[in-house]
Amino acid sequence: MTLGVLYVVVTGAGATRQVPTLFLPPAAERGWDVRVLATGQAASAFPESMAQIEGVTGHPVRTSFHTTVGYSLPDPDAVVVAPATYNTLTKWALGIADTYVLTRLAEQVGRRVPIVAAPYVHTRFAAHPTYEGSLATLKQWGVRLVIGPGEPHEPGAAEPDDFPWAEILETVTSAREGAVTPRP
Ligand SMILES: Cc1cc2nc3c(=O)[nH]c(=O)nc-3n(C[C@H](O)[C@H](O)[C@H](O)COP(=O)(O)O)c2cc1C
Repeated sequence: MTLGVLYVVVTGAGATRQVPTLFLPPAAERGWDVRVLATGQAASAFPESMAQIEGVTGHPVRTSFHTTVGYSLPDPDAVVVAPATYNTLTKWALGIADTYVLTRLAEQVGRRVPIVAAPYVHTRFAAHPTYEGSLATLKQWGVRLVIGPGEPHEPGAAEPDDFPWAEILETVTSAREGAVTPRP
């Protein structure tokens, strides 16, 4: 069964390297048509992962508006933001839309599609006074937060060995199965 279009937003955090192997294949197997959107920092820090993602999905990774046809991607039926950096979570929770990724995220909150976000944030960022408030705001908007057992992690950790990929997929899939039709 096809579940529809799933945007997977990746950001400038080490766990982005795991997306092509640990998240995209099981998501496709569950029936999602996945399109990956990357922040500028994710694309520049992890170019090999971007190439791998394109190989797995068969679609280009989107980092910016299409110059001639606007958004060009189909609207999503659900969104996963994983791994989510402190920066993206903070700006998103403020309603900022100054990049392609943040613009698309702001819109999807407005469309009320199911959104799941999983932070990969170290303890120094997590201790910033804005952080808990940002998570609370996103939650209040209906964003489902999946917080892995190792979160927040120690600074300097390159990649997690316990990032909750399976729980993220389960959460977005069950949300989609119980979702109402998104707003146009
Ligand atoms: C190698 C590397 C790893 C990073 N890992 C993280 C991380 O795990 N979590 C995080 O919140 N920021 C991390 N950062 C910092 C973010 O990349 C930085 O705040 C950036 O502005 C995030 O931009 P984005 O949210 O648009 O991807 C890392 C930076 C580098 C260079």
